[in-house]
Amino acid sequence: MDATPHTPPVVQVSTAAPSATLPAEIVAALKTNAGNPPGVRASFAKGQCVTGTYTPSDKAATVTRSRSFTHPSKVLGRFSVGGGSPKVADSNRTVLRGFSLRIGQGPDVSNVLFENAPVHFAKSQAQMLAFLEARTPGPDGKPDPAKVKAFSDANPETLNQAHYVAAHPVPGSFAGITYFAVHAFPATNAKGAHRFVKLQIVPIDGPVTLSDEDAKHKPDDFLFQDLNERLAHGGLRFKIVAILDRAGDPVMDVTTRWPDEDSRESVTLGTVHIQAQSDNAPCDATIFNPATLADGIGAPPDEIFAARSTAYAVSLARRQSENAKR
Ligand code: HEM
Repeated sequence: MDATPHTPPVVQVSTAAPSATLPAEIVAALKTNAGNPPGVRASFAKGQCVTGTYTPSDKAATVTRSRSFTHPSKVLGRFSVGGGSPKVADSNRTVLRGFSLRIGQGPDVSNVLFENAPVHFAKSQAQMLAFLEARTPGPDGKPDPAKVKAFSDANPETLNQAHYVAAHPVPGSFAGITYFAVHAFPATNAKGAHRFVKLQIVPIDGPVTLSDEDAKHKPDDFLFQDLNERLAHGGLRFKIVAILDRAGDPVMDVTTRWPDEDSRESVTLGTVHIQAQSDNAPCDATIFNPATLADGIGAPPDEIFAARSTAYAVSLARRQSENAKR
């Protein structure tokens, strides 16, 4: 497998001035659409903190010099079910499944957040807010289908994520999901060469899926019950894979996959072994800040990534203040 980087693509870094208010407005819209459940995350509200280990492959340094990925470490993780409600059923057909990872130690820590779709539902912060506002529940507690349709017709790329999820079976276990970090991350390898990569977490024992009929009969928390059973019997194992870029890839648009993304060249950076359930405190007391990335994997240049750190901090402050009042 040749991980030799090519000449780095010239990237138009977003010139839009970072908005001071859009990330907070997005968090408010996420909360509104979920019915404002107090004291929980604005997104991926239902989850479980876990711990484990990371073991690098001997190829990791051909892609990144990041000590998060080239050195063994403990990991903190959180498996989650998407949406802003902690009561969502694990068999829900439309929400995402998430896997957040803190990998590396001390100054070499990186947080990478993954979900089971390779694209986001908006390519700009303004479009993300408008997508959520189009789905604000009316007096009957439901979004207005005419508003949603009008928005979708004018912004067809905002349906790419839902179409991907709809085309795939319901996940049957957190252990059997391929998770995507969505953005194009600029990587610098051990020789100092640069390229973009997309990161995926791939289950070592293959996919675990359910038919729609089987999903109907599952208890609401079956993914978390399955997680506990697997942790009692050796844990969950995944590969972290870097998909390598080619000239011309659309690295600024998180609603679009790269051409032939599923079949192109990739390098396994290492393996993650999740071994134990953790008390939720280490995950709930803080955020998996997507901007915390150790030298060797940089911040993706797109406008959506730029909103994330602030949005997560706003969500943390809100859930902490709501919990303090309870
Ligand atoms: C584009 C790729 C994205 C991925 C893969 C992703 C994934 C995730 C995951 C896995 C979590 C759960 C974090 C945890 O376990 O603690 C999360 C939380 C969250 N996400 Fe995202 N997300 C993305 C984009 C965004 C964007 C663009 C925004 C807003 C501008 C956003 C807002 C939030 C918020 C507010 C939380 C809750 C933070 C907290 O209270 O800790 N996400 N996301």
